[in-house]
Amino acid sequence: MTSTDATTFEVRPSSHPRSLAERTAALADLKFGVVFTDHMARATWTDDEGWHDRRIEAYAPLSLDPAAAVLHYAQEIFEGLKAYRHADGSIWAFRPDRNAQRLARSAERLALPVLSEADFHASIQALVATDAEWVPSVPGSSLYLRPFMFASEAFLGVRPARRVDYLVIASPVGPYFTNGFQPLSIWVDAEYNRAGPGGTGAAKCGGNYAASLLPQAQAYKEGCDQVCFLDAATGTYLEELGGMNVFLVMKDGSVRTPALGTILEGVTRDSILQLCREGGRPVEESRIALTELLEGIRAGEVTEVFACGTAAVITPIGRLKGTDFDVTIGDGQAGPVTTELYETITDIQYGRREDAHGWMSRLV
Ligand code: COI
Repeated sequence: MTSTDATTFEVRPSSHPRSLAERTAALADLKFGVVFTDHMARATWTDDEGWHDRRIEAYAPLSLDPAAAVLHYAQEIFEGLKAYRHADGSIWAFRPDRNAQRLARSAERLALPVLSEADFHASIQALVATDAEWVPSVPGSSLYLRPFMFASEAFLGVRPARRVDYLVIASPVGPYFTNGFQPLSIWVDAEYNRAGPGGTGAAKCGGNYAASLLPQAQAYKEGCDQVCFLDAATGTYLEELGGMNVFLVMKDGSVRTPALGTILEGVTRDSILQLCREGGRPVEESRIALTELLEGIRAGEVTEVFACGTAAVITPIGRLKGTDFDVTIGDGQAGPVTTELYETITDIQYGRREDAHGWMSRLV
């Protein structure tokens, strides 16, 4: 049946949901992205039928033809957002419209079909309503939602697939970094690039993350937590970390972050910029040369550096290391601006502070 404008995800309940005891055990010690709920959302697109067969079904391994195009040509995109439980038990998402719009932009770049904002919202709403008991309530926890879309057509020719699957899986999570809001050390990679001009850097596609894995492994070897990439064209300017954006705080209280273009347009990045502007804190989205950053840190002009993203929220950066430098930022601890922004954003997300922007969207 063709149903391109329907937005109902029919719930087909799992025949084997986890028991209360199993769920309680799974929610007891939350890590990032290792436990998954009982259901997943799913829809299929074909070039003759459009989007159809929207449903919530039991979480289960996928059956995929070995010739599925995604396995060969990486035609795949994803999103990341969280559902937060508020004190009254209600469950909310943070700016899901932004994720829906970014998924649509990523789809266009990867020659995948666009999923409507209404379908995106319906998929996460139906999944969270079905698995509401999996949304944790311990401080700092949430239900991480991972919508993704991939080329499932069995065909080895290089062209956009004519069959595509969209899914949403959900994972109750604690902090992305095991130590939570503790300063990270960053390896600044001068050898590898994440994305080049005209490439897929602004899209949220698996290939960008695959390209970050070798340099990320190098970062671990160097004793660092994360890798930071420089621009591919000149190897001069900061881009982003393996999976999050980066910000500087200057002595005069202003903040700076790399301009958009070849980096991901983070929802947390955008929210921080808005909060700063409204709070009278000057913001600058521009090119930031690594040399300028290092000089600024040594001269005390750059007082704080932090990473941000849905998974990482806001995480302070205490140290930058490269082939010929190793510098500590300030006293190496979380600075006051980083801490204030972290508290503001998380207070809004968990319903502890007025949501003046209408950023929160009630799911349950
Ligand atoms: C997110 O922050 O949601 C991401 O997709 C980044 C990923 C490295 C977990």
